[in-house]
Amino acid sequence: MEKILVAPSLLAADFMNLETEISRINQSDADWLHLDVMDGEFVPNLTFGYDLVDSITNQLDKVADVHLMIVNPIKFVEQFAKAGSDYFVFHYEATDDVWAVIKKVKDFEMKVGISIKPGTPVSVIEEFLPHLDLVLIMSVEPGFGGQTFDHGAVDKIAALDSLRSENGYTYLIEVDGGINDQTAPLVKAAGVDVLVAGSYVFGPEMDKRIDILKK
Ligand code: DX5
Ligand code: ZN
Repeated sequence: MEKILVAPSLLAADFMNLETEISRINQSDADWLHLDVMDGEFVPNLTFGYDLVDSITNQLDKVADVHLMIVNPIKFVEQFAKAGSDYFVFHYEATDDVWAVIKKVKDFEMKVGISIKPGTPVSVIEEFLPHLDLVLIMSVEPGFGGQTFDHGAVDKIAALDSLRSENGYTYLIEVDGGINDQTAPLVKAAGVDVLVAGSYVFGPEMDKRIDILKK
């Protein structure tokens, strides 16, 4: 099996001490940093935008994995590219023109990912799979950290893993929401590549918990 990548979610960090949190991430065995952008419309919560992402990527030694929970993600492709995003991951449910977003993200030389909510089946994104660098399966309703893992994500990951090997696709499979020492083994067995974890890893035991997720 390929190496599991861990992407701590900044949503669970101490926002009063972001500089310290970013240096903890830099010194850890985390592979990516997951940045949750919310607009209060696609999801019932607000976080931060491209200016903060820009400040963070200036200090960050890890891959910047930007998860856009915003309507009309195409509007901000350029800004997030300039802010140093490595992955631009948008929601299938947030746009009427998925192809246009994919094309624009590639034009701005970012890796492109599509995310689907727990109620959205894998079948609706099948036509896009050959063109994606990443698929993000939400295992909670997007909007908040600290929610309980939805087991429906496991079958979706397994389906994406089969489609990938049957067709020679190259996307990474990422899962987000309720990932901890109990749920990580389930998604790993199903073929996941990248584990996003917020509340489980941000705290005094960050290094130990990242290790547990990777094992
Ligand atoms: C939720 C976000 C997640 C969140 C995960 O909408 O997309 O990235 O931070 O938090 P945990 O790991 O606490 O479920
Ligand atoms: Zn996220």
